[in-house]
Amino acid sequence: MSRFYITTPIYYVNAKPHLGHAYTTIVADSVARFHRISGEEAFFLTGTDEHGDKIMQAAEAAGKTPKEFVDDISGTFQNLWPKLNIQNSDFIRTTQPRHIKTVQKVLQQVYDNGDIYQSEYEGLYCYGCEQFLTEKDLVDGKCPDHDKEPEVIREKNYFFRMSKYQDWLKKHIEDNPDFIRPERYRNEVLSMLDMGVLDDLCISRPKTRLSWGIELPFDTDYVTYVWFDALLNYITALDWPEGEKFDQFWPSANHLVAKDILKPHAIFWPTMLKAAGFEPYQHLNVHGYWLVKDTKMSKSIGNVVDPLSMVGTYGQDAFRYFLLREMRFGRDASFSEDALVGRLNADLANDLGNLFSRVLSMTHKYFGGEVPTPSRKHESVDLEVLQLAIDSFKNYQQLFGAFEFGRGIESLWELVRGLNKYVDSTQPWALFKNGETERLGDVMYVLLMLMRKIALHIWPVMPTTAETMLEQLGQGADFDPAAVNIKDEVETFGRLEPGLHLAKASNLFPRVDLKKKQEEDAVKAEKQAAKKQKKQDKAAKAAKAEPKDGIIDFADFQNVDMRVGTVVSCQPHPDADRLLLVKVDLGEDEPRQVVAGLAEYFSPDDLVGRQVVVVANLAPRKLRGQVSQGMILAAKTDGGMQLLTVSGATGNGTKVS
Ligand code: MSP
Repeated sequence: MSRFYITTPIYYVNAKPHLGHAYTTIVADSVARFHRISGEEAFFLTGTDEHGDKIMQAAEAAGKTPKEFVDDISGTFQNLWPKLNIQNSDFIRTTQPRHIKTVQKVLQQVYDNGDIYQSEYEGLYCYGCEQFLTEKDLVDGKCPDHDKEPEVIREKNYFFRMSKYQDWLKKHIEDNPDFIRPERYRNEVLSMLDMGVLDDLCISRPKTRLSWGIELPFDTDYVTYVWFDALLNYITALDWPEGEKFDQFWPSANHLVAKDILKPHAIFWPTMLKAAGFEPYQHLNVHGYWLVKDTKMSKSIGNVVDPLSMVGTYGQDAFRYFLLREMRFGRDASFSEDALVGRLNADLANDLGNLFSRVLSMTHKYFGGEVPTPSRKHESVDLEVLQLAIDSFKNYQQLFGAFEFGRGIESLWELVRGLNKYVDSTQPWALFKNGETERLGDVMYVLLMLMRKIALHIWPVMPTTAETMLEQLGQGADFDPAAVNIKDEVETFGRLEPGLHLAKASNLFPRVDLKKKQEEDAVKAEKQAAKKQKKQDKAAKAAKAEPKDGIIDFADFQNVDMRVGTVVSCQPHPDADRLLLVKVDLGEDEPRQVVAGLAEYFSPDDLVGRQVVVVANLAPRKLRGQVSQGMILAAKTDGGMQLLTVSGATGNGTKVS
């Protein structure tokens, strides 16, 4: 059996997954499924990249230990994938022992071969990039990606002799024209190589500066540079050096990345492989960026597209279809809900959904819902549509295999639209009316058997839709892609048993009225805003009201939002002896910082792990330069202080009333 290996980048865990991560992973899933339904065994790897400065900094900002932090966000990625119907074969994390073992083994191997050496280095270091930059990389003296001046750092480090492999790499790329594809990225890499001699790659970081990484096996004062660590995930998951998987899958390794990480994949990785004595991967497949209104997605602009919300509104398959259909692989593309709905209504609801529902209901009306037996006396209109089907399946398979998904899908839709025309021109209703039963059976059979083949071909892109179609075509509920091979489906006529009982009706893709949806969303948003305003007004009124004789109304009490939380970290206030900076998890996205006057009574260690009660809706204020977002309740006793707490373990964020 032929085998196929596809990987996504392993994603950084310093931010939650967004449209870009979803796209690459959906493409990889579709490619893996395409190979599975083409009679191959496909191994599909994704995972998370968990070492390095960026992750350390993000963990600190969230008030978590690096381990807690990476477990949390890696979990967000792992939980998202089933919601997009991703069927990965493995999920790798660079903090797993299996990976640490591989990295150390490869490092030792390259070191023993003499391709790693130690040297003093002074350079411009950008903490955002986790890289030394050259003057050439800077714009106005700043790192263009992070808009910050790099710092001059002088230190001893270990270097990988990458320069030694420059000529080999250039020749390999020239001899294998589709090693890096599409061509524009191959050309980009060749021009990088032509621009000058490759520098050797600094592959270590002194532990004094960064400890969150994999120790060098030959010098425990250092950890491994994050890219040298991360790239090796692709062989860790194949159980290198043990087991059979490496020999089985490595020869067909296909990496999938966006243009942002072209250089590490096209230059660092093949030279690392060469130095360690491995064959290069088979293909590097590089796609462009999803933009939103022609702008890069960014948290600060607030235009980051959340894949879950798209799937929640439009469904997994419409989302997957849109992403694969709309982006020309290799180029940037623009994401908009308008465009998604446009495709959903035109391609899915109109062209495909309508056709399928018409064909099913006609079969019910004319043949009691059973697949008719064809006479196979074909008229020219049949032969034309059968030829169209052959061309369309052939092109689809060739284009999909070459990562040209948009064009591949388009050629399948030529058939879908061709079949709609076929219905219009053969007019089954007229044949029925005239009692031409044999001809009617032939026409319906052509339609039904091609619907089955269309379902098989769209399975990689829209698995649920394809499975529903197959089920409605009487193909059994448990569809097994390994039992079919679309390569055998191109020229074959039939393959749909006459007499099979079909579903009565189908509604694969209900049309979406975007205008109506937007109006409904606007009304909902307005209602929510009004409710919020009312609450704020009430709170403001209550704040003004003077308590009479020390008595307050119940409503006033209700305005105080008290919640149970757990102290996740605590440290002394840098500028005030009596204050502590306490981070409390209130079940929100991030723990809150509360500045508390508890330092005289508690040490930070006394507080970590304890449950406390926090006034959560107190307006934030600064105490000696540190923001406090709430107040921890405590009772002052003679010479002491007692914390208010709960009598048993209580979920963080639980309201006190
Ligand atoms: N951890 C590294 C990769 C190491 S692989 C050995 C990394 N991680 S990342 O979280 O930043 O992911 C980058 C990848 O996410 C891109 O290469 C691409 O696959 C995907 N995308 C992120 N933003 C994207 C868009 N706006 N559009 C399309 N894909 C993008 O780099």
